[in-house]
Amino acid sequence: MSETIPAHGGELLDLTVGGDEREALLERAPSLPTLRLNARSLSDLELLGNGGFSPLRGFMGRADYGSVVESMRLASGLPWSIPVTLAVSREESRELREGDEVALADEDGRALAVMELAEKFGYDKAREGREVYRTEEEVHPGVAALYRQGDVLLSGSLRLIDLPPHDDFPQYRLTPAQTRALFAERGWRTVVGFQTRNPVHRAHEYIQKCALETVDGLLLHPLVGETKGDDIPAEVRMRCYEVLLELYYPEERVVLSVNPAAMRYAGPREAIFHAVVRKNYGCTHFIVGRDHAGVGEYYGSYDAQHIFSEFAPGELGIAPIFFDHTFFCKKCDEMASAKTCPHQREDRVILSGTQVREMLKGGLAPPPEFTRPEVAQVLMEAMQDRTTSKYAV
Ligand code: ADX
Ligand code: MG
Repeated sequence: MSETIPAHGGELLDLTVGGDEREALLERAPSLPTLRLNARSLSDLELLGNGGFSPLRGFMGRADYGSVVESMRLASGLPWSIPVTLAVSREESRELREGDEVALADEDGRALAVMELAEKFGYDKAREGREVYRTEEEVHPGVAALYRQGDVLLSGSLRLIDLPPHDDFPQYRLTPAQTRALFAERGWRTVVGFQTRNPVHRAHEYIQKCALETVDGLLLHPLVGETKGDDIPAEVRMRCYEVLLELYYPEERVVLSVNPAAMRYAGPREAIFHAVVRKNYGCTHFIVGRDHAGVGEYYGSYDAQHIFSEFAPGELGIAPIFFDHTFFCKKCDEMASAKTCPHQREDRVILSGTQVREMLKGGLAPPPEFTRPEVAQVLMEAMQDRTTSKYAV
């Protein structure tokens, strides 16, 4: 049996149950106290269920939560940088007793999982903000989501009746077991993972291809869970990838699949989290470029790279590949970064998100040095579909 890399903690989990056990849970669920999860918690439930969050067997309890917030490790000492918690209001929590079974349902009330409630506990949101997001400011979208959620956390082991259902991108919703099987089938021993939540541009393509020069395969793994309201919607981003792959990538070296996670915008801490999750999907390497998972001015451009040195080599079990800010240089006549290009700012095609947004809204394609024309076409059409477009690029 060939495998690229073991899952985090050693074993790839699958918390879905089948056969008689599933039937029994389905039958029991309607009589249990039921919590309807929001989109963010459903994303977490999916990644817990399919093993993307191995070795977690459920939403975090007090010991793991405290340890993750304070020291980026589970209580066992294993690196883990982002809390995975289930928050409810005080009123909701009052109805529930430790030791009870609780049904977790989607937004329509359909039971997807049963949790054995181990603990309910209060927590300090401002502290989580400071430690995990490096800010307590509510304008930070990750901190805003934290402040919006309930004041009590619930933990306990999970059994999944079904993974959360989706109508969109059915062909791209591979589980960690499925991406791993695909890598094995293709004989890949080394695979680099790429996280993204933005429309693909030439700098993305360049760093993906530079990385691919040194490994067997590339997993393009756009995040399609909840993002902030002005990010480009996932379906538009996926269409950009489809055109790009068809025209500019060797089919046999690339897998396009989606990551159901919600975006936290936690910058450095989220880069570690993104890498560990991609390790569970079977990646041996992971790309971290400029301002990875950042928002606004909260993080330094390379903070998400520096944080990797807080772990001993081998502790994370996946190798980061770092890239400087990359761009097209007219004098070099190719993509480059400050590491490889000796020219001046004015020789380089560097556009801010706002500039690109304004161009697209005005029906102008960004230059081909910045975005492939076929991708620009998809973006312009999407922008014009919206009379009052509010997308950021
Ligand atoms: S995010 O998760 O980091 O928010 P985004 O789509 O913006 O997603 O970026 C995807 C990856 O490409 C990240 O690793 C980011 O650091 C990297 N990246 C984006 N633009 C550039 C660039 N111009 N130069 C180098 N790396 C970049
Ligand atoms: Mg970015």
